[in-house]
Amino acid sequence: MSRKKIVAANWKMNLTQEEGNHLVQGILSGLPADVNCEVVIAAPFLFTAELVQHLKGTPVMPAAQNCYPAPSGAYTGEISADMLKKAGVKFCITGHSERRMVFHESNGFIKEKTEAILKAGMTPIFCCGESLEIREKNEQNSFVQKQLEESLFHFDGTVMRDIVIAYEPIWAIGTGVTASPEQAQEMHAFIRALLTDKYGQEVGNAVRILYGGSVKADNAEVLFNQPDVDGGLVGGASLDADNFLAIITAGN
Ligand code: PGA
Repeated sequence: MSRKKIVAANWKMNLTQEEGNHLVQGILSGLPADVNCEVVIAAPFLFTAELVQHLKGTPVMPAAQNCYPAPSGAYTGEISADMLKKAGVKFCITGHSERRMVFHESNGFIKEKTEAILKAGMTPIFCCGESLEIREKNEQNSFVQKQLEESLFHFDGTVMRDIVIAYEPIWAIGTGVTASPEQAQEMHAFIRALLTDKYGQEVGNAVRILYGGSVKADNAEVLFNQPDVDGGLVGGASLDADNFLAIITAGN
């Protein structure tokens, strides 16, 4: 079964609106005529409404980097999944390691966010991945398994098959150290085996598992060619149109 690849940009807290506009124009004007993969851009909230406008009528889909699980209310500074959905956002990242570490988000809280994203009608891009310390102890599999079990495995198979998972080893994020294609494939195959065990072959085969962590123009193709790697979540290299376009080409 062939899974459609996804190449997703995560701008994080970068770029002014002006710079964001410039980057989106650069990406749109350089897009290959036949885009066979799904291309996604997750911009900062401030830019979201404008991003949605820019991407209308193009094959590129707007995403958010975060949301709050409650539908509305006294949560100063937060944005709900429903607000994002109604603004035209299609995907929302959840469980990113930066939010887990900097904002102390737990598996339980990420579970609630993922539920809210699904309830609003968006697709979650659920991030998981281990620290260097955990990998050095060779405990990465059980660590990632726990992240999946505590945040996702209460969903039934019909919901699970549409969730996008991004394996992002923390030691590879923003460090320039990319997981080797073998390391990525090994973890992706492990995640897929967990999904197959729990939900059966059909769901196991359907779920897209992206790799994230120093994906660049020159390593994207070999990573994306691994049998269980269905594209990438790209931080630093998505901030430059030429680099991001080269990564899209690798996913195409
Ligand atoms: P990076 O970030 O590509 O800059 O390593 C990836 C991510 O955190 O999603």
